[in-house]
Amino acid sequence: MTIKIMFFCLGNICRSPIAEGVFKYHAGRAAVAHRFHVESSGTSAYHVGEAPDRGSQAVVKRRLGVDISGQRAQQLTRAHLTQFDVLIAMDESNRSNAWELVPEARILLLRDFEAGPDKGRGVPDPWGYGAEKFEEVFDIVDHCTSQLLVHLLEREHSR
Ligand code: 4NP
Repeated sequence: MTIKIMFFCLGNICRSPIAEGVFKYHAGRAAVAHRFHVESSGTSAYHVGEAPDRGSQAVVKRRLGVDISGQRAQQLTRAHLTQFDVLIAMDESNRSNAWELVPEARILLLRDFEAGPDKGRGVPDPWGYGAEKFEEVFDIVDHCTSQLLVHLLEREHSR
């Protein structure tokens, strides 16, 4: 059984494309990529059909050598919220937008998978900021997606 994971933000061009690319990278490194179906989306339709922001493409390329330029933005739908197993919002605003579509959906925040004082906070929106902001986002997303993977693999193991 593959586990279906949906990462989402507002535009699906900055934060969630990084999360999709980096989670797939971690799953590949752990030789478990075949166990996951991973997508990303945005709660808005502002950028549907667009490739990830240059800042997102550049940071993932620079830090991991991974090319995410082939991703295309899509809008989060009711069907995603009912059919995916794991729903991960980048911030509380994205989560409340999604709850307007499906109030009973079980939606986690990416930073729920972080220890310490920042646990449960939002991933900052880097849209319109420079490369440094994308580095900060990358660090958060890299850490939290790797912890999410550990969590999902442990959960599978204990079943
Ligand atoms: P994202 O960043 O939600 O991380 O993809 C944004 C991209 C575009 C907009 C807002 C946030 N926008 O308002 O167009």
